[in-house]
Amino acid sequence: MIERIKSRLKKRQPYGRYQHTLGVVKAACDLAEHYGISVDKARLAALLHDYAKDLTEHELKKYIEVHKLEVDQSLYETYELLHGVVGAHMAKTEFGIHDEEILQAIRYHTTGRLHMEPLEKIIYLSDFIEENRNYPGVEALRKLAYEDLDKGLLQGFNNTIRFLLATDKVIHCNTVKARNQRLKDLAKK
Ligand SMILES: [Fe+2]
Ligand SMILES: [Fe+2]
Repeated sequence: MIERIKSRLKKRQPYGRYQHTLGVVKAACDLAEHYGISVDKARLAALLHDYAKDLTEHELKKYIEVHKLEVDQSLYETYELLHGVVGAHMAKTEFGIHDEEILQAIRYHTTGRLHMEPLEKIIYLSDFIEENRNYPGVEALRKLAYEDLDKGLLQGFNNTIRFLLATDKVIHCNTVKARNQRLKDLAKK
């Protein structure tokens, strides 16, 4: 299964994206091991998280319509976020993956959401800390991710929201909800 997915990915992803995918796989497997969750599930979710990323806006929207995927209006209008929901559906139909934890981790890696499962948190964070990422603060975030998943995640969401504000982009409500919930969860610790 892993080799079949890899050879399909190599065909559909440009070199840089494929390297990013392999980086996310490595980070996700490490984090899964660190936090005692299934490394096999982390590997599959990471491998497929950007499976639909190279589709055009038209292709993504067409796919959503043809397969009648449930997508809220603000997600539908934000092209950058759509590859999560489409990728999760493709993981199910093209590779026969029915594990809900894996599918949700793929689906919500573009926005986060309330009540994220550990695997979702790991995939969301791995996307930002994989070894090919290079931006101010990435080292600190890598360290935080291993210290406390929720602390790392809060920082990840803060970075995303800051970037979206600075570039005048839409902030999906699930991202705000997920960010705020980290504050509540951290206050309880
Ligand atoms: Fe993505
Ligand atoms: Fe990614």
